[in-house]
Amino acid sequence: MKRFLLFLLTLVVAASVFAGGRQAASSSKGLVGVVMPTRSEERWNKDGNAVKEGLEKLGYAVDLQFSDDDIPTQLNQIDNMITNGVKVLVIASIDGSSLGTQLENARAAKIPVISYDRLLMQSPNVDYYVSFDNYKVGRQMGQILVNGLKLDNPPKRPINLELFAGSPDDNNSVGFYQGAIDVLKPYMDSGLVRVPSGQIERTVIGTLRWDAAEAQKRMENLLSRYYSGDVILDGILSPYDPISLSCLEACKAVGYGSTAGKPLPLVGGQDCIVASVKSIMQGDQYATVLKDTRSLGAATVELVDKILNGQTITGLDTSSYPNGATVNGRAYVVPSLLLDSVIVTKDNVQKDVIDTGYHTRAELGL
Ligand code: GAL
Repeated sequence: MKRFLLFLLTLVVAASVFAGGRQAASSSKGLVGVVMPTRSEERWNKDGNAVKEGLEKLGYAVDLQFSDDDIPTQLNQIDNMITNGVKVLVIASIDGSSLGTQLENARAAKIPVISYDRLLMQSPNVDYYVSFDNYKVGRQMGQILVNGLKLDNPPKRPINLELFAGSPDDNNSVGFYQGAIDVLKPYMDSGLVRVPSGQIERTVIGTLRWDAAEAQKRMENLLSRYYSGDVILDGILSPYDPISLSCLEACKAVGYGSTAGKPLPLVGGQDCIVASVKSIMQGDQYATVLKDTRSLGAATVELVDKILNGQTITGLDTSSYPNGATVNGRAYVVPSLLLDSVIVTKDNVQKDVIDTGYHTRAELGL
């Protein structure tokens, strides 16, 4: 009996959620589905809210979902959105290659798909990609180390670096890594920069799901295995602020920053999260790359609106992002809108982070 009542209750709740969705959609210009990977990272909350608020301002109803980095949950959310008749899907994937069936279903239902920040891979059913120039972001990550370690004004001894990359199932990791390595390679080839662990390949230095705890463990292992005696770690290539902060923690735990001759290694990062900007102001993390989620959100909102109004989309890059699929025997290149990113150090926090309102002084504890 209890079970039956529970079943009835579930049915009633499901029906009212469904009806609610329909009602919201029918009193608006249409329902747009937005899926983000996780709430546990600062940026995806900002991204999701920016897209939702922007679309709602234009009169659309928005179904915004997060999936705690769980792939089956994300797939279910997309299935439900398709069933509920969304007009456009905006997807920031967890694993870019895992959505083939959902993308096929979206195409069959004539729902345009926008790949948000992370490229959806191995499928021709992706209409647009909105992101930053990820290769350039990678070059900025490398440039942070060149600037901070003054590699063009060579120090008297070789510089020891360890390298971290992003999640292997996220295509962004490829651009970030390639850009950074292209900048660092000449210094590695000349012998000025060494990687004492010898761990250089992207697949070896990757961090599944961008997990900062996993990166911290790897950093601890590297320090205990390769850094003893007078071998000091000078710098870390980091693709993501939480990874930068956890690597710094691992270094502090073995005396970096508190022992003579062992300053904290120089670390960059990405995403300009509050904790990293605070760390930059304190002089621990050296820099980060700011990818303004508000601009990405605004570009996406504009794109959705243009698609639904049948307007022509201009300014698309049609050569940078093949996604591994083929159409009529040719590599499919996803038409992309690519935004610019900015390196942030202590010197431009005021101008590029505070004055633009990206973070307030209060958020930064200033
Ligand atoms: C990447 C994204 C980065 C960072 C990372 C971890 O795809 O480009 O900016 O947010 O995911 O979430």
